[in-house]
Amino acid sequence: MNFSNEITQWYSNNKRDLPWRNTTDAYTIWLSEIILQQTRVEQGMPYFYRFLEHYPNVAAFAAASEDDILKLWQGLGYYSRGRNMLTTARLVNELYKGTFPNQYEQLIKLKGIGEYTAAAISSFSANEAKAVVDGNVYRVLARYFGISEPINSTKGKKLFQETANDILNHDNPGLHNQAMMELGAIICKPKSPACGICPVNIGCHAFLNNATTQLPVKLKT
Ligand code: ADE
Repeated sequence: MNFSNEITQWYSNNKRDLPWRNTTDAYTIWLSEIILQQTRVEQGMPYFYRFLEHYPNVAAFAAASEDDILKLWQGLGYYSRGRNMLTTARLVNELYKGTFPNQYEQLIKLKGIGEYTAAAISSFSANEAKAVVDGNVYRVLARYFGISEPINSTKGKKLFQETANDILNHDNPGLHNQAMMELGAIICKPKSPACGICPVNIGCHAFLNNATTQLPVKLKT
């Protein structure tokens, strides 16, 4: 089996049951991804439920006041996320008549949505072939392929995105992306990775060379 087949099979058997994984609704996925941008899953989960209950769709979100949104956001930090969401919800409601876009090229134009988030929403909701690269993915790629280019250098960012694109499973990009992130979150952890039970350990550069503590490389800024 190739890398993607190994990790997607592992994912199917071992994934956490997270609420935003049981939907292809682009609005719901957008909500979850923005909340999870700088927030841990356990901390973000109650906010995700609360927002969805108050604003079940983008039209409802667009009709909220900034005060309402910031009040619900309280405790999450990085309040610009909440403000950008309102801007985006109102624009989407106007432009797309209440249907949240699920195509990368539409998403990337929206406030608060960068390459990662556009790839996540389009692949999870529409199976668009866009590879996600977040902190989890940097770690998996750096260790598996032995990439020592810094993840926060211009050259490194380009190299990691290209590597992620190269291994993307085009038959099921959404599943592949989820699997990459989940592997990084629960096996290929920053400290004490669980290499012994990793589905791709036999091909992993860092595992084979005892180098998990040295990868990924990050430049001090
Ligand atoms: N962190 C960011 N996006 C996530 C997702 N879809 N599932 C789990 N953790 C995440």
